[in-house]
This record gives sequence, structure tokens and C-alpha cells, in this order.
Amino acid sequence: MKTKAAVMVESNKPLEIQEFDLEAPKAGEVLIKYTASGICHSDYSILHGVMAGKVPIILGHEGAGIVQEVGAGVTSLAPGDHVIAVLTPTCGKCVMCLEDKPFLCSQMARILGTSKMLDGTTRFSQNGKPVYHMGALGTFSEYSVVHEGSLVKVGEDVPLEKVCLVGCGVTTGVGAAVNTANVKEGSSVAVIGCGGVGLSIIQGARINGAKQIIAVDPVPEKRELAMSLGATHTVDPFAEGGPIKQVKALTGGLGVHYAFEALGRVDTTEQTWGMLRPAGRAIIVGMTDQREKIKLSAKGLFAEKRIKGSGYGSSQPQRDIPRFVDWYLSGQLKLDEMITKEINLEDINQAFEEMGRGEGARSVIVY
Ligand SMILES: NC(=O)c1ccc[n+]([C@@H]2O[C@H](COP(=O)([O-])OP(=O)(O)OC[C@H]3O[C@@H](n4cnc5c(N)ncnc54)[C@H](O)[C@@H]3O)[C@@H](O)[C@H]2O)c1
Ligand SMILES: [Zn+2]
Ligand SMILES: [Zn+2]
Repeated sequence: MKTKAAVMVESNKPLEIQEFDLEAPKAGEVLIKYTASGICHSDYSILHGVMAGKVPIILGHEGAGIVQEVGAGVTSLAPGDHVIAVLTPTCGKCVMCLEDKPFLCSQMARILGTSKMLDGTTRFSQNGKPVYHMGALGTFSEYSVVHEGSLVKVGEDVPLEKVCLVGCGVTTGVGAAVNTANVKEGSSVAVIGCGGVGLSIIQGARINGAKQIIAVDPVPEKRELAMSLGATHTVDPFAEGGPIKQVKALTGGLGVHYAFEALGRVDTTEQTWGMLRPAGRAIIVGMTDQREKIKLSAKGLFAEKRIKGSGYGSSQPQRDIPRFVDWYLSGQLKLDEMITKEINLEDINQAFEEMGRGEGARSVIVY
């Protein structure tokens, strides 16, 4: 069959809307019609060469849609099922899956590294030449073929154009707060970077009962949004004193229990360490250029500070995605407020430019 998609043909160049051939699902695979896709900073990072990606590649990994057809041996899904696409194929067989860490599934590393299906081929092509798709998802295409384990079923009453955010940013952020850090009730939290991921961390910290949540972002509208989603204080990192001094001042000079980085930069990662109180924890969620090195003061080690990375919110997708969708349905988790606008696929380059300027929280493509 044919499908329309936004393809990256070269780094730092606008995506192009083109038509592609899409093969039918093979064993263990599913044909999905995406109804919506969010745009995550990781797509932006691939486009700008911060994260590796082979071209031509159909980006997008924050989607939701409806199952159209299933390949041989698919038992957990059937045509008509409403689903959220997830970053890990949760193979259930690799060492990490067997250790109950499907968010580190080694098949996910393979898929993200190659942008091909697990059998090493692609389902998309153009003029007989293979076209890659990010995370073996490619949610910037109206139709795609994905692994059965990359989909989590949701109820038919759930608005897919909202819960698509749970596919990446929300699970990453809420999961970082409630799983990776397991923020304690009554604690203090700082979040550096209040885009889709950072705002989700703020919501996870609020849901877990944090007493003080400090949102750090240079964009005033992001700080306002952060306040409406659960932050108790905000900091403009470029205001006098800089982010560390300002966060410390808000915590009686002591620093926070948890500092999250949700931006993907060396300087902001190092800032988390500086704003921690003794025995505090830095949780690094942003995807910094993997060739970079981070420098931390040795002093913090004596103070028993800890630093931990967070991958996909340390989530168990089959457990956490339905849980986060339930939180949305019960009003605890706010998604509508995080969506700045719904756009057509054709408007995707404008949405990327806005992301580069720090404007808006999430743009959602509605097919
Ligand atoms: N660890 C994971 O599993 C995982 C998953 C998804 C995304 N990510 C990463 O998370 C990061 C955030 O993604 P996003 O989609 O929320 O990005 P985003 O572009 O929507 O948000 C980034 C925010 O940072 C703010 N910012 C810019 N400069 C700043 C500064 N100096 N100090 C504080 N804030 C500043 C911007 O105004 C913006 O609000 C990215 O690096 C992305 O690749 C990681
Ligand atoms: Zn993402
Ligand atoms: Zn696995």
C-alpha cells in the first residue's frame, strides 16, 4: 500500500512530505493507522545531528492510532484496537526484559540504533530503495508497520489525539518522577527545562506529593504553564544569580531533594548537581549529545549526592501506559493543557522551528 509521510532526507534541512510504499505486516507485526502524533525534542535532535539517524528516515515516535491488520502469530491485538505506540518492543526475552527492565530492552537499543525492524529490513521504501523509520515506529506517517510489543492497547473512549503524548514525553517525564526517582511526599524538586518532558516530570512530582516544585525555564509562557500544572515556584535561569543560586535561595539555602534535567545539555546537567542538598539526587532525562562529557564537583560525593540517568521513565509500558491514561481520565494528569496546537502533517517544519525557539509545549499532528 501507499502512505504519506514526513521524511528527513538530510540533517538540518526541512522534512519533506512524500509518498512511500509500505509492505504488509510480517509475523509478529501490525499495520497501524496513526490518528495522531506528538513532536518530541528527540525528533528535533535527530534532525539536527545531536542524535544519530540514517537517512532517508521517517521520524516520529509519540503516536497513537488504530490497528488495521495483524501479521501471523499476533495474539494480543486485533484490527480495530485503539493503541499507543511505545519506544520499546518489550521483547520479553532479552537479559534486560528478564530483569524486569523492559525500558532498557536490548531490542530497543537495536531498533533505535538501526531504525529498521528487528529482522534488519525496513517496511517503508521508495522506488525500491529502503526508507528507515525512527524506533521502528515512524509516527510522522499516516500508516506504519510496527512490532506487536511496540503497541499498548487503550480503551475506545480514550481521545487518541491527547494520549498520544503518553507514547514518549509523558511516560518519560511522569515515569522519571514516579519510577526512576520515586519522589517522596513532602520533598522539594527542581526541574530544568519545561517542555513536554519537563512538564510531565512536574506533574509526576505533584502526583507523588512533592511539597515544593521549582520550574526552571527561560521562556515566561513555559513558566506560567508549569505553575498551572503543579509547580509552586519558577526560576528564569538567565535572571540575576543564575539557576543554582536562585533555586538554593528558594530552599532556605540548602538545595532540593531532587533535581531533574529535561533539556539535554552539558551545562544544565552540571547545574542539577549544584542545586542539590546533601544526599540529594540528580535525575538526568535530557538526551545530551552522546559524545559529550559531564564534569561534576567531587565535593558533592562527600555530601552523598547521587546522579542517575532515566530511560523512558524506567517504565513497564504494559503496566504504566494504562496507569497514566487512567490518571488522565481521572483528571490527575493534565494532557489537554500541554498541547499548544493541533497541526496538519504539512505544518511539521513550522512546529520544529517553534520547538527550536522554545515556543509552545507540544504540537500534535492530527491525521
Ligand atoms: N531519557 C529519555 O528516555 C527521553 C525520552 C524523550 C525525550 N528525552 C529528551 O528530553 C529532553 C526534553 O525533551 P522535550 O520534548 O521536553 O523538549 P522541549 O524542546 O519541548 O523542551 C525543552 C525546554 O527547555 C527550555 N530551555 C531552553 N534553554 C534552557 C535553559 N538554559 N535552562 C532551562 N530550560 C531551558 C525550553 O524553553 C523548553 O521549554 C530532550 O533532550 C529529549 O531528547 C529523553
Ligand atoms: Zn521522545
Ligand atoms: Zn527485551
